[in-house]
Amino acid sequence: MAPPVGIRGTFFDFVDDPWKHVGHEHEAARFHPDGLLIVEDGKIADFGSYDDVSKRHRALEVTQIPDRLILPGFVDGHIHFPQTRILGAFGEQLLPWLQRWVFPEELKYQDRDYARDAARRFFDNLLASGTTTCQAFTTSAPVATEELFDEATRRNMRLIAGLTGIDRLAPAEYMRSADSFYADSKRLIARYHRQGRNLYAITPRYALGATEALLAACRRLKQEHPDCWVNTHISEDRAETREVYAAHPGCADYLAIYEKYGLTGPRFTGGHGIWLSDDEFERLSASGSAISFCPCSNLFLGSGFFRLGRATDPRSRVRLSWGTDVGAGNRFSLLGVLDQAYKVGMCNAASLEDRPEEAERNKVSPYRGFWSITLGGAEGLYIDPLVGNFAPGKEADFVVLDWNGGPLAQSWRQSLTVDAAGPQTIDQAADLLFGIMMVGDDRAVDETWVMGRRLYKKRVEI
Ligand code: GUN
Ligand code: ZN
Repeated sequence: MAPPVGIRGTFFDFVDDPWKHVGHEHEAARFHPDGLLIVEDGKIADFGSYDDVSKRHRALEVTQIPDRLILPGFVDGHIHFPQTRILGAFGEQLLPWLQRWVFPEELKYQDRDYARDAARRFFDNLLASGTTTCQAFTTSAPVATEELFDEATRRNMRLIAGLTGIDRLAPAEYMRSADSFYADSKRLIARYHRQGRNLYAITPRYALGATEALLAACRRLKQEHPDCWVNTHISEDRAETREVYAAHPGCADYLAIYEKYGLTGPRFTGGHGIWLSDDEFERLSASGSAISFCPCSNLFLGSGFFRLGRATDPRSRVRLSWGTDVGAGNRFSLLGVLDQAYKVGMCNAASLEDRPEEAERNKVSPYRGFWSITLGGAEGLYIDPLVGNFAPGKEADFVVLDWNGGPLAQSWRQSLTVDAAGPQTIDQAADLLFGIMMVGDDRAVDETWVMGRRLYKKRVEI
C-alpha cells in the first residue's frame, strides 16, 4: 500500500441539503481556508483544518495548491456519451432532433474504433470540466457500452452506464429486439457491474421508444439484478408526452408506465421531468426515485422549464441529480448547467407571485447550485456513500477551481470579494462560487483529480 499523501489548500464541500436551511444555507456547507485532505489508496483518510489534521499525520508528503478553491468532483446525472460529436445542431425540438441528428450519429457507434476514439474524447471533456462521475447513456450497440466502460476503467473513474434500448420510432438498423436487449444487457451486467468503479444501469431510452416487450425485458433484468441502476427519460417534451400513451395504453400518466414495469424506486433516474404533474412528483418522492434536471438541454431544445421549486418542496421532496444532457445540452460543463439553472429558476420564480415559498425555492444560490452538482447529485444517484464530499472513507475525486480563470479575472465582483489571501469566510467563498457559476467557464477548472491522482491540468493561458 502506498503511503498516505496530503493536499493542502482551500476546501469547500457540503454536509447537508441547503434547501433544508432556508435563510441559513451556509449551515449545509463546510469551508476550510487552510485545509488538509489526506489520501490513502485513492480514498479520503482524513480531512479538516490544516492545524488539526496535520497534528495527526506527521512526516507526510504534502502537495500545496495555493490560490484555488478545492471542491468535490462534479457529478453529471444525465449525459449521452455517443452525442459527443453532435453538440449544437440547429433548430429542432426533441423528436425531429433525434431523427435528424442523433440516430444517424449513434449508428456509427457499431464501429468499435469510432466508439473507442469517442470514449477518449468524452472523458477528456468531462475532466476538463471538473466532472469526475457521470451517469451515461450509450447506444443500442453493445460495443459502445463496452468501450465506454473500458475507458472509464483505464482512468479509474466512477461511471454508471448501460446499453440503451429502443425498439420503436427509430431507423430499423438502429433498433434492437427486446430479446437481444435482454441477452446483451445480461452479458454486460456480468462483465461490468461493480467491477472496479463501474456500476450498471438498465437503460430503456424512453417510454416513447419502447414497446411493452422492451419494458418487460427491463422489468426482468431489474428483478434479476435488483442492485442495478435504472436510467431513462421522462416527460421531457410536449409532443413526446402527448404521443407516449399510444405505445402504452391504459397508463394514466408518464410515470405510471415505469411504475407498471417495476422500474421506479431507489436508483431510478428519469431525465428532465418538465411536464410532470403534482401527483407524479408526489409518487416520485414517495418511492425514492430521482429526476435529472438538465437546463442546458431543456432550453436548447425548447422543451420547457423544470419546476425546481416544486421538486424541492419539503413535503414531497424529490431526489435530483443535475445533468448536462450532452448533446442536447450544448456544454460538457456543469458550471454551464448552473448558469442556465439559475436563469430558469429566476424565470420560474417571477411567474410564481402567488406562491412565494415555491418561488424562493427556485432561486439557485451558490450553496444550492454547488451542492446539486456534488453531494446532492451523488444522493440523487444513491452513490453518496462513495463520492460527493470530503468525508473520510469516500473516494478522493476533486476539482480545483481558479477564481481568476478566463473572464473571471475581469469580473468586478471577484476583485471586490477576494484580496490576495483568498476567501477567508464561508460567505466570501460562496460569493466567489456564484461568480464562477455565472461568469466562469471551463477556464475556471484548473485541475481535476480522480482517486487522489491528478488527471487534468489546464494549459497556461497566454
Ligand atoms: N429522449 C430519448 N432520447 C433522448 C436523447 O438522446 N436526448 C434527449 N434529450 N432526450 C431523449
Ligand atoms: Zn438525455
